[in-house]
Amino acid sequence: MNTDFNHLNVTNRKLLAWVTEMATLCQPAQIYWCDGSDQEYDRLCTEMVKSGTLKRLNPAKRPNSFLALSDPSDVARVEDRTFICSVKKEDAGPTNNWMAPAEMKETLQPLFSGCMRGRTMYVVPFSMGPLGSPISHIGVELTDSPYVVANMKIMTRMGKGPLEVLGANGDFVKCLHSVGAPLAAGQADVKWPCNAEHKYIVHFPEERTIMSFGSGYGGNALLGKKCFALRIASEMGRREGWLAEHMLILGIENPKGQKVYVGAAFPSACGKTNLAMLIPPKAFSGWKITTVGDDIAWIKPGPDGYLRAINPESGYFGVAPGTSYKTNPNAMRSIEKNTIFTNVAETIDGDVWWEDLTETPPARLIDWQGKEWTPGCGRKAAHPNARFTAPASQCPSVDADWENAAGVPISAFIFGGRRADTIPLVYQAKDWESGVYLAATTGSETTAAATGQVGVVRRDPMAMLPFCGYNMGDYFAHWLKMRGTVTHPPLIFGVNWFRKKDGKFLWPGYGDNMRVLQWIFERVQGRGQSIETPLGHVPTFQDLDWSGLADMSDARFNEVMKIDAEVWAKEISSHNELLEKFGDRLPPALRAAQMRMLADFSTTPSANLNQRSLTGAGLA
Ligand code: GTP
Ligand code: SPV
Ligand code: MN
Repeated sequence: MNTDFNHLNVTNRKLLAWVTEMATLCQPAQIYWCDGSDQEYDRLCTEMVKSGTLKRLNPAKRPNSFLALSDPSDVARVEDRTFICSVKKEDAGPTNNWMAPAEMKETLQPLFSGCMRGRTMYVVPFSMGPLGSPISHIGVELTDSPYVVANMKIMTRMGKGPLEVLGANGDFVKCLHSVGAPLAAGQADVKWPCNAEHKYIVHFPEERTIMSFGSGYGGNALLGKKCFALRIASEMGRREGWLAEHMLILGIENPKGQKVYVGAAFPSACGKTNLAMLIPPKAFSGWKITTVGDDIAWIKPGPDGYLRAINPESGYFGVAPGTSYKTNPNAMRSIEKNTIFTNVAETIDGDVWWEDLTETPPARLIDWQGKEWTPGCGRKAAHPNARFTAPASQCPSVDADWENAAGVPISAFIFGGRRADTIPLVYQAKDWESGVYLAATTGSETTAAATGQVGVVRRDPMAMLPFCGYNMGDYFAHWLKMRGTVTHPPLIFGVNWFRKKDGKFLWPGYGDNMRVLQWIFERVQGRGQSIETPLGHVPTFQDLDWSGLADMSDARFNEVMKIDAEVWAKEISSHNELLEKFGDRLPPALRAAQMRMLADFSTTPSANLNQRSLTGAGLA
């Protein structure tokens, strides 16, 4: 076995011992320590082109970019195979799969034993957050997938730098990953090795260890992302007084140069990347949106009395379908080069295509399964969870402070989901407790980002249901407590871009979401006008700026803002299904917020809820 330890002068004994131990378990043919250089990336990609895992795209169309097509059984996160193995079951809570650590290790032992035979074990040291910053944390992923290594190079600061930060004595989160497909002597490899029978995405929060088996896709395999930066980090945050959230971070700047930052949590494939890179409508001249992050935020109380947020990642692993120069030009420009595409379709001239990239699909494509595709064939050309992996530095709207170790001060949190009915376009919680209640009870239709049924409404508290590494009741309590750590707590808003009438979206969305962001900006500045409803403060028709949007009538606005008392009585009582799960771990403040909202509805004449657009005086 080639155990090339020394070309990087690794001195960290804990790391060396762990790598040796894991190599003994997994029995790889060789071990390779990643230095994170561009040359190394190029070499790995060239090797993967040779082995068939990657296809090099046409350099004239898509320089230095590659296409990977996964096994059709390995296309998304597997939430039902994801486990939080805390010592005590109660600490994983009712919303996570749990198994006792010892029992899980016994289950995994035979699977990992010899699982890397015939393959290389790559040692991938990485930093979540800027190198050496006091808010960053180091992880090391051991993986038998070169595709994972290449993605980690884009998504994290990877290689020599993090090893230096780690030094001789530094601590790191242990991330073991195998596709679970050992090769016998002489056995030919497949393009996308994975294990169709066994998949396990396992977290041991007390040991800060992750073990992932059987999948090579996205959050199952790029362990710095959901497994570390959300599940393990959320638990670290609870102990240490900070938050790890499934949030984009963006800056809003007005024509006078005043700027505020907001964090927004939407479930997977519900528009974080789109909002993070929003380009304001033409009529909003002088307004700017800048991008700090599109998926994950680490948020800590700062010395200035604000919650300050960093993006621990250095790339975007974004949903491709639906992304176009019309819906998200900044994302399109971010992926013009140096990008890995996974499960999109290929054009005959070696470029990429996916649903809604162009109005008219090309006459012929190779689809995400490598098959001939024509517009009428009845199949999707790209998988609905097809993704691009691109460096954040390539985004034209990237914020000047996106790598600032001190983070950016957060003035508002926004929570939303996909709801065809019930939830108005935007509303502001009356206070922190009501805001945490709003966030905790957010619901959303499920998407293709996880395996399972798509389009069913489920509660997804803070968009963290699949990502909270501990008891969600304790998580709500932690959120309530965070209010006391700052003198300038963010305002809390709910939004819904997805309300429908007769099967059509009522709200234009995308760039026009700027109108909502502008109102939020003005609320933060203490200027935005509103009226009060039982849900909180809402804008009236004249409180939003409609310049450049011809087809938004007062009546249409009322539909997208409608708060129906009967529908809300049902909605609020349906929250109980979630709240009851937590038993005595549910903070009483959330029940109190629910009671307050019910009381407010009972004292508000229902007619007033919907007749407030013209005068804004409908509600007391
Ligand atoms: P993850 O990376 O999975 O965490 O998700 P994300 O929240 O970053 O998802 P993304 O921004 O890629 O969501 C894309 C999906 O949301 C596509 O289906 C878009 O069409 C849809 N979407 C985004 N913004 C809007 C909007 O304003 N209105 C409507 N109707 N759809 C939107
Ligand atoms: C999500 O599903 O929320 C993602 C993609 O951001 S993955 O990294 O695959 O989890
Ligand atoms: Mn996500």
